[in-house]
Amino acid sequence: MQIHQLSDTNLSSKDLADFLYAIDNDFSPPLSERVKLKSSSGSIHAYSEKLTSQGEVLVCISSDTICGALGFYCNDEKNTTSFISILGVLPNSRGQGIAKALMEKYLAFIASKKYLISKVDTWKDNQAAIHLYTRLGYTVLNEEGFSIKLQKHIPTSTQPHT
Ligand SMILES: CC(C)(COP(=O)(O)OP(=O)(O)OC[C@H]1O[C@@H](n2cnc3c(N)ncnc32)[C@H](O)[C@@H]1OP(=O)(O)O)[C@@H](O)C(=O)NCCC(=O)NCCS
Repeated sequence: MQIHQLSDTNLSSKDLADFLYAIDNDFSPPLSERVKLKSSSGSIHAYSEKLTSQGEVLVCISSDTICGALGFYCNDEKNTTSFISILGVLPNSRGQGIAKALMEKYLAFIASKKYLISKVDTWKDNQAAIHLYTRLGYTVLNEEGFSIKLQKHIPTSTQPHT
């Protein structure tokens, strides 16, 4: 399966927003509610635009549409800490290793930037995501209410020599 940076494809933040609307209710709380909580003018479209302009987005494409995406920030140069903002796969594409492939590409990307820490938040009963993250070496940083924060130290041996 092919994973691309959204910016290397002919797809736009609008296509990413359409994908996110399709999986809106698979998040707890739904993504549309989360983005509203973060900003009064928050919408999935505004979120998608912010992510594509200030962050990085990796996508898995099937039949010219996005079937999986991972959006992250890799701009905290001081702490060399990257944060995964969103990870999702369309329901009918799940269980085929797409999320794992997106995560592996993401981890290689941040290692190439010499980032040392990756952080991600999810909710406590999200077994699929917690399984995926812990299999990839993430450990629980803290739990608060329904939320669970995980972190992974990026081994320096995976970082390219300069
Ligand atoms: C979580 C999610 C991204 C996984 O996507 P996916 O493409 O189906 O995952 P993969 O096929 O790459 O599977 C990765 C690992 O998770 C495991 N997994 C997948 N779905 C699972 C489930 N429902 N329960 C337990 N483990 C699961 C797989 O077995 C695999 O583990 P393995 O490497 O030990 O075999 C997808 O279910 C999703 O989009 N969920 C809704 C949004 C979400 O929860 N996002 C992440 C949290 S913010």
